[in-house]
This record gives sequence, structure tokens and C-alpha cells, in this order.
Amino acid sequence: MSNNNKKYLIAPSILSADFARLGEEVEKVLASGTDWVHFDVMDNHYVPNLTIGPMVCAALRKYGVTAPIDVHLMVKPVDRLVGDFIEAGATNITFHPEASEHPDRTLQAIRAGGCQAGLVFNPATPLNWMDHVMDKLDLVLLMSVNPGFGGQKFIPQTLNKLREARQKIEASGRNIRLQVDGGVGVHNLAEIAEAGADTFVAGSAIFGAAQATDPHRYDSIVKAMREQLAPFEK
Ligand code: DX5
Ligand code: ZN
Repeated sequence: MSNNNKKYLIAPSILSADFARLGEEVEKVLASGTDWVHFDVMDNHYVPNLTIGPMVCAALRKYGVTAPIDVHLMVKPVDRLVGDFIEAGATNITFHPEASEHPDRTLQAIRAGGCQAGLVFNPATPLNWMDHVMDKLDLVLLMSVNPGFGGQKFIPQTLNKLREARQKIEASGRNIRLQVDGGVGVHNLAEIAEAGADTFVAGSAIFGAAQATDPHRYDSIVKAMREQLAPFEK
């Protein structure tokens, strides 16, 4: 079981994993020392792509995955799927506030189901969506690309937005994780950590880094990522 008390968490996005052998991929990436399984749900409506749903989440639990499953909903409407993912064994559920008619209610429903709740901000979505729901947030996710696809380039403006989000979190005095998602890799982890993020989603940087047949396929990339974060661990 991964340790949520760690300062920095790495959340591999399985969007870039080999779906034909998903259970094994998740097992391997966790064995390399990653923390959360980032689970991207796309509906071909809120975002122009279609991925995986609650059945796949339940299948990972059945396969034996005990690590936190971090469900990132890129769907509209949001609420019906929240219940399905609670049932399917999700640990965290995050959603885009503008995709929900009533974000406060959605956050409450996630927590009532025993999951950790969070809001996701697209590059152009203002952070003030979080101001009146701080007491209902366990995490805040800043998109550093426009949602829908893996393998895009990190948008540098996200660094300023991370600083702003970090200030809001510190001012609230609450224990809220600040997660970043999109174009994250060894090359930019240090500056992202410096800007205030503590939880790093990485898809193509991790899953694109190794041969599927190598039994230790993700060890060296995850080690390289940890080395980038080490100076900030203190
Ligand atoms: C994009 C997804 C991301 C994606 C990140 O909409 O939310 O989680 O998998 O992929 P990379 O790390 O390749 O940018
Ligand atoms: Zn994501």
C-alpha cells in the first residue's frame, strides 16, 4: 500500500499504459515506487476522446490493486458517474467544476461515498472556483495541458497558477494536495515542485520510457523522477 503521508507523490496516468495488459502494467508501475494510479475518464463529450469507465476500475481492484486509484473525471454530466466510481473502488474522485451543475453538491457526494474529493482546473479555468468550497476539498488538480490526450507539452503559465493555488491552500490552513497533470516529466519536475505542486501525474513520460517485455520496465524512470524531487523533500 502506498503512503499518502509522503511529501511528494507520483501518480502514473494509465492513459499511456498498454491497455491489453493493464493489470500487469499497473502492478509494474507501482512496484517501481509510484504512489497513486491516475485513472483518466474521458467521455467524447466534455473532452474529444473516449477512454475507460468504472468497470475497468473495478477490474483493477479485482486483479489485486490495493494502491489508491485517483479517478480524474473528464465527463459531463458528472454526478451519475461519481456513484459508479465509488462502487467501483475509487479512492479519489476529481472533476472539472464547470462540467457539474452543482460542484458543491458533487464534492459532498464524493466524500459521502468515502472517497477523497477534488476539483480540476483547465489552463483557462480560474482558481476562484475553489474559494467557497475549501472545506470540501482534499485535492486540487491543475491541468498543465488541455484535457483529452496524453503526450502534450507542458504549458509554462501553469507554474504561476501553481504558486497562486499553493498560496490559497496555505492561507486556508487545510491539508489539501496540489496535483499537476500534463506534460510532466524528469525535465520539468524540479521547477514544478518549486512552484508548489506535491503530487505529479505523468503518463507518457513513464509508460513511454520502457519496453513492455522488461520485467523492471519502469524502475529507472521512476528513480530519475525521485532524484529530481529529492532536493525538495526536506
Ligand atoms: C490528459 C490527462 C492526463 C494525461 C497526461 O487529459 O488528464 O492525465 O494522461 O499525459 P502526459 O503525462 O503524457 O501528458
Ligand atoms: Zn488526468
